Amino acid sequence: MPEAESAPDRYALVGHPVAHSRSPLIHQLFARQTRQRMTYELIDAEPAQFETAVRGFQAAGGRGMNVTVPHKEAAFALAKTHGEAARIARAVNTLTFTAGAIRGDNTDGIGFIRDVTVNHKREIAGARVLLLGAGGATRGLLGPLLAAKPASLVLANRTVERAAALRDQFAAHGAIDVCSFADLAARGSFDILINATSAGLHGEQPPFPASLVTAQSFCYDLAYSLNMTPFVTWASAQGAGRAVQGWGMLIEQAAESFAIWRGVRPDTAPIRAQLVR
Ligand code: ATR
Repeated sequence: MPEAESAPDRYALVGHPVAHSRSPLIHQLFARQTRQRMTYELIDAEPAQFETAVRGFQAAGGRGMNVTVPHKEAAFALAKTHGEAARIARAVNTLTFTAGAIRGDNTDGIGFIRDVTVNHKREIAGARVLLLGAGGATRGLLGPLLAAKPASLVLANRTVERAAALRDQFAAHGAIDVCSFADLAARGSFDILINATSAGLHGEQPPFPASLVTAQSFCYDLAYSLNMTPFVTWASAQGAGRAVQGWGMLIEQAAESFAIWRGVRPDTAPIRAQLVR
């Protein structure tokens, strides 16, 4: 009789909602490529159930979790130790369970930077960058974005006070010019525009001025869909040089989480080719 094989290591994504997540497929492809024995589940938990869901998964032998909307700040609070990006963002998308302790990391920002600079070959250093939205997604991006040394970073939000609070939180990391969507008309055009609002998820497209975009602009929507997102449709209609959805960031942040958990970084190129047309 062959020796019984140990059970595969268990990972999961916790969020609300999570049913349509592509993360299980992405991690399954990474595991196959790097020959890791692991499973990756989806756990839907409302905010009141978040901590119970995490501790329950850990108690059941789970090794780590990805965390998505709306739990990233609760995950920061739950983790005992933090990687630098998580500490700066005060938000966590990757939990790692070790004996007695939970470590929190944030791979969203590095995933975004890799997709823009490596996959799309766009320089952030020296670029005029516009970030639209001041919610949880923006919180994860600001540290790595400022570290990439853009020439300037404008942060615009429907609710200006939220953008101003983020500017103050990140003041030690670099200068952020905060304004409303209406004020954007006076800011000229941008090399890189990033949509980090959730407006598109509700099928909405805020009234951004057309003057933001030129034929050289690179427009990046953190949202992704099998159809065109409203922001990508808008950016293309304004004549943007390039307008892309956030599929690449989704894959890159997953690869960073996988590397933290498994100690091996998957090659994302074939996975991108498979998932992103
Ligand atoms: P997430 O974690 O996905 O970033 P969030 O923290 O709720 O979610 O933030 C959502 C962001 O999208 C915010 O910047 C929000 O603007 P407000 O701070 O003014 O609420 C923005 N947003 C959502 N719907 C929007 C809409 N219809 N028009 C413009 N901005 C919108």
